[in-house]
Amino acid sequence: MNKERDDAQIADQVEEIRESAAESMPMGARDRMREAVKPKIKEAVAQREAMVDAITREPVKGAPSDPSAADSSRITITDVRQHAHVNAYLEAANANLKILGYTEHGRRHASLVGHIAANVLRHLGYGAREIELAEIAGFLHDIGNSVNREQHGQTGAVLANHLLLSMGMPINEVVTVIGAIGNHEEERGHAVSTVAAAVILADKSDVHRSRVQNEDPTTFDIHDRVNYAATRSFLRVENGSARTITLELTIDAEMASVMDYFEIFLSRMIMCRRAAEFLGAAFLLRINDVPIL
Ligand SMILES: [Fe+2]
Ligand SMILES: [Fe+2]
Repeated sequence: MNKERDDAQIADQVEEIRESAAESMPMGARDRMREAVKPKIKEAVAQREAMVDAITREPVKGAPSDPSAADSSRITITDVRQHAHVNAYLEAANANLKILGYTEHGRRHASLVGHIAANVLRHLGYGAREIELAEIAGFLHDIGNSVNREQHGQTGAVLANHLLLSMGMPINEVVTVIGAIGNHEEERGHAVSTVAAAVILADKSDVHRSRVQNEDPTTFDIHDRVNYAATRSFLRVENGSARTITLELTIDAEMASVMDYFEIFLSRMIMCRRAAEFLGAAFLLRINDVPIL
C-alpha cells in the first residue's frame, strides 16, 4: 500500500467533509464568522503595511569596509523597487495567485522577503553588496507568478535576467540574483549560493495572518488556516559562539494545530535547515516559545 497516496486521500476526504460542513452551515453563522475574521485580517495587514513602509524607507546597512558598498554606479534595491515594470510584475503575480486561492504574494511579501534575506546575511557578517543582492533577489523572487504558478522560480529568473541587464547590472551580479530566484521553490530549489540560502530562509519564514486573502473562514484551506493562526513570525539570527537561525512563530492553537503547520511546512523546514547549513548555521524552530527543531 502506498502510504503517501493514502495520506493524500485522507487529506482530500477531510477537506471534502470540511467543505460540505461549511456549505450546510446556516448563512447567518457563516456571515458572523466572516464578520469576526475580516477585521482581524485587516488589522494584521495594517500592521504589516506599516512595517513594510518603515523598512523600505531604510537604506540597506552593510559592512562599511566593503568597497563595493561605495560603488555609486551600482544598481540598488531602491532602483529595483522604483522600476515601473517590477510593480507591474508583482501586481500581476498577486492578482493571479489570488484568483487561484493562494495567500498574498505581492509587494508586501516581496519587501519582507528582501528585507529578511538581507538581514540574515547582515547578521552573519557578509559583505554589503552581497547583502544588497539578497535584498534584490528577495524582492524579485516571486515575479514569475505573473506568468504561471508552475515553475515560477524559473520564469521569474528569466524575467529578472532581462530586467536587471536592461538596468545595467553587471552579469556576474545578475547570475547570483537569478540563481537565487530560480532556486527558492521547495519542490526544486537548492541553496546554491549565500544569496540563494538567504532568500530561501526569508521566503519560508513569511507565515502570517496578514497573508490570508480569503476572508471567509468557512472556506479556509490548510494554508489559510495556518497563516491566519500565525500572529507573529520572526527570523532571529545569532552570530555568537553558536551560529543559529531561529524561526520564532506564535500560533493561535484554536485556529490551527502544530500538526497542521507541519503538514504543509515540513518540506520548507527541511529546505531551511539545508540553507542554514550552507551559511554555516544551525536552523531552529520555536512555536509558542517551545523549541520544536
Ligand atoms: Fe515563490
Ligand atoms: Fe515567496
